[in-house]
Order: sequence, then structure tokens, then C-alpha cells
Amino acid sequence: DWTMAAFREKAIADIRAQVGDGKVICGLSGGVDSSVAAVLIHEAIGDQLTCIFVDHGLLRMNEAEEVVSMFRDHYNIPLVHVQAQDTFIDALEGEMDPEVKRKTIGRLFIETFEAEAKKIGGADFLAQGTLYPDVIESVSFTGGPSVTIKSHHNVGGLPERMNMKLVEPLRELFKDEVRILGKELGLPDQFVGRQPFPGPGLAIRCPGGITRDKLRILREADAIYLEEIRKAGLYDAIWQAFAVLLPVQTVGVMGDGRTYEFVCALRAVTSVDGMTADFYPFDMDFLGAAATRIINEVKGINRVVYDVTSKPPGTIEWE
Ligand code: XMP
Repeated sequence: DWTMAAFREKAIADIRAQVGDGKVICGLSGGVDSSVAAVLIHEAIGDQLTCIFVDHGLLRMNEAEEVVSMFRDHYNIPLVHVQAQDTFIDALEGEMDPEVKRKTIGRLFIETFEAEAKKIGGADFLAQGTLYPDVIESVSFTGGPSVTIKSHHNVGGLPERMNMKLVEPLRELFKDEVRILGKELGLPDQFVGRQPFPGPGLAIRCPGGITRDKLRILREADAIYLEEIRKAGLYDAIWQAFAVLLPVQTVGVMGDGRTYEFVCALRAVTSVDGMTADFYPFDMDFLGAAATRIINEVKGINRVVYDVTSKPPGTIEWE
């Protein structure tokens, strides 16, 4: 019968068989999936693995520091921290189309990985924490015609000319199984319980064109929202919670002045695997308090709304 311990043994044997004595680089996002993949692959092939963490300028508040310090302090896995903010933001600025944004980010990730692979004398494989739902949603919509819903950068969004082969040891797992595997591998509970964060990051939470200033606004609002969720003890009850910065300005009043600033949408959903989701039924008091803090503390936002769309028909992310 199937157990996570048995999965772990088989996955390690499969990785060794696939990789041989080749070199592997692993794109680390700081999320659970890529971290579990990295630890598993490290267990299989040791220092044939190099982890690469790309700061694409689309991360949340303090995220880069947290990821880098966790990997360097807790695990003895070599980690390259690439500062690629300008490359990504410059390429995305002014781009309105969600699929083009995703594909641009996917292409830049691969170019960054290839450049880093070159610096360590070449790599034969690129490892990713792709899960089963990522595979399904990037390929087709169950039961319907073959339509791409979204190009996940770690599946459909990869350029065809990439010269590394993929290692994806989690391809058959769902999120809850990855969390069990993470515990099996000894990752701390608080890390294994982290809410998912998409590879394209804040770019897909800023519908329409992104700018550095919009990203700054979104990052600040998101940090306040998550802080309130943690304070209320709700973090573990929610699959994912985040702020979205709408490309819409509305009129407000602050003191005796008129304001004309952006609208922030708050999103929170419950889910088992990310394939379907229900919006989280917060108390109105919680929402009111979070909205007041965001409007008072974030320069650039004067209105907050709550997204009550479930999936389907909505998706979890806005792009
Ligand atoms: P959607 O928005 O499709 O999201 O309902 C389902 C889950 O997938 C995450 N997501 C991504 N994760 N790369 C990732 O690693 C991506 O390109 C990507 N797009 C969406 C999303 O955060 C949610 O958990």
C-alpha cells in the first residue's frame, strides 16, 4: 500500500536514475513545492544540485530575505540569490495581456536559470516543484475542449528551445501530499504550512500594466492584510489570502481633501488542491478593520473591496 515513506524512497531512486552524474539546478520560489523538491533532490544527489532563487521584483514584503535566510541557515544546500528585479520589471512594464505577462516571466526565468547554469560550468537538468494540478490546468480543462486556462510558468510557459531537461519529482502529487512529504523530509511545520504563492508573483495580482509604484502599493497592502489575518489566528484556516491592486482609481475624501487613488481588492479562499475554491467568509468586523488600516497606512489606496467569487467560475488569482 501507498505511503509517503515509500513515495520518498521511490522518488529518490527515480531522480538518481534520471540524473545519473549530471548536474541539476533547481528554481526555488520560497514556496512549499519548490522547497520540498529541492530537499528531496538534495537527498538523492547531494552536491550535484544547485538551488537558484531569482528575485524578480515581484515578491512580497521581506520575502527574499526570509527565503534566503531559511535556506542558508536551516539547510546546507548551496543557494544562488539572483538580483534580477530590473530585468523582469523593465520587460513587463506597459504589458497589459495576462498571458503575455506570464509567458514573459517564464521566458526570463529560463534565461536567468541558463545564465546561472553557465556560471557553474553548465547544468543538464532544471528541477521544479510542479504539482499535478499545475499539469492539468496548463494542459486542458477537464471534460471540455483543450483550452489553456493559464500558462503556469513552470509548465506550459517554458520556451521550447530550453536546453535543460526537466526534473519534476512532485508531478503526481497534490498540495496536501506535498505538505505530508515535506514533514516526512523534516521541514518545519510553520514552513510546510505556508500558503501557496505563484511563480509570476505580484505581477498577476496587479491586473493590467505593472509599475514599480503599483508594486510598492500592493506589497504594503498585502503585508497589512496578512498581518491582520495572522493576528486573528486565521492563517491556517485559509488556503490563500492576498491583496490585488486594481487598475482603477476612484474618488474619496480624507480630512477636507478629495482623493483620487487606486482600489485594492482583498481575496481569501479555502481549498483542498487549488482546483476548486470557496471565498472565505470573514466577519465584517475583520474586513472593516483590515480595510481601515490599509487605507490609512498605504499611500495610493483609498478604497478596499472584498472578492466573494468562488472557483469556478472565478480563478484564485486575478490573472
Ligand atoms: P488559479 O488562479 O489558476 O490558481 O485558480 C490555482 C493555484 O495555482 C497558483 N498559481 C500558480 N502557481 N505558477 C505557480 O507556481 C503559476 O504560474 C501559477 N498561477 C497560479 C495560484 O496561486 C493558486 O494557488
